[in-house]
Amino acid sequence: MIHMDRNTSPIPPLSDAVIAEVVKETNIHEYPSDEITRFKQLYADYYGIDSRTIEVANGSDEWIQKAIMTLGQNGVMTLAPDFVMYHEYAAQVDVPVYTVPCNEDFQFDFDQVVRAIEEKRPSLFLISVPHNPTGQMFADSELKALADAMEDVGGYLVLDEAYFEFAHAYTRPEGDHVLIIRTLSKMFGIAGLRVGIAIAEGKTFGKITRLNHPYPVNSLSLNLASRIFSEKPALDAFVRYQLDSKAQLAESFSQVSDKINIIESNTNFVFTYGRHARSLGAYLLQNGYQPRMYDAAPLGDVVRYSVIRPEDYGQLNQLIKEWSNQYDQEGKSNKGDEDLHITR
Ligand SMILES: Cc1ncc(COP(=O)(O)O)c(C=O)c1O
Repeated sequence: MIHMDRNTSPIPPLSDAVIAEVVKETNIHEYPSDEITRFKQLYADYYGIDSRTIEVANGSDEWIQKAIMTLGQNGVMTLAPDFVMYHEYAAQVDVPVYTVPCNEDFQFDFDQVVRAIEEKRPSLFLISVPHNPTGQMFADSELKALADAMEDVGGYLVLDEAYFEFAHAYTRPEGDHVLIIRTLSKMFGIAGLRVGIAIAEGKTFGKITRLNHPYPVNSLSLNLASRIFSEKPALDAFVRYQLDSKAQLAESFSQVSDKINIIESNTNFVFTYGRHARSLGAYLLQNGYQPRMYDAAPLGDVVRYSVIRPEDYGQLNQLIKEWSNQYDQEGKSNKGDEDLHITR
């Protein structure tokens, strides 16, 4: 089965030989102190930011959990849908979650978001930018309105940038109350090593890192992450690989953009929906490609696909073509008023 349901990289960013070298060099009998400092500096240099505004944890998941624990006391607000774990972590500490729903095309009305903030006055708003599960990017003006509304109620805004390296540049809303959460699990291909990053300034940095352990990430993960960021040409090549794969994925599904609804992707996955999206998903699943399907509204007829290895796109394209041809034939006979069950 080829997995398209995990939103991770289909390959690792380091060769087996390099991984072995880093393992050999890692002092596992010592606490990871220099290792943390080194990684933070490399990451900060890569993005041209101040390393003192960065902290690391076991995946951005841990930062989401910490943000809810430290800043979410008076309730968390998020979009519906958004990253499912926002709900899970809020439930762990009995924090209420308020949501603002999308419309039938999975778009959000930010005037409605602002009104909801004014009404519920949450202490924390979590939003994935670009957005998971839809892959859409929000307008700068929408994010600014959201940040301003949270500032007005004395709350914090977390921009969860898990996929931002796949999106076009955007102007982040600024303010002491805005925090950024990032991960090395997506673009940088080390989901298994669990490296998540929080970026914040001043008092906000103090609040979000209040629950830190002295050595929040193990030395092997940090050293492998540092190796990725210390070899710029190899890193550039890996980023190009990911972006090419994202482009190929979008092209594969554009073949059927007249048959299913597709949201333009700013991530490493493509979001499809509508009456026949599930038929295509089922066809691909039956033929060895595992998409992400959902059960509950509003995602009932949604199927999401993430990047695969370049060599796997040929067969994927072929299968999509086959489904499309059968769709044309069946569509003619059932006049489009029945759900399609296309099988090979
Ligand atoms: C929007 C979003 N945020 C955070 C995460 C968590 O990433 P990790 O804990 O691997 O850093 C994911 C993973 O799928 C995600 O989609």
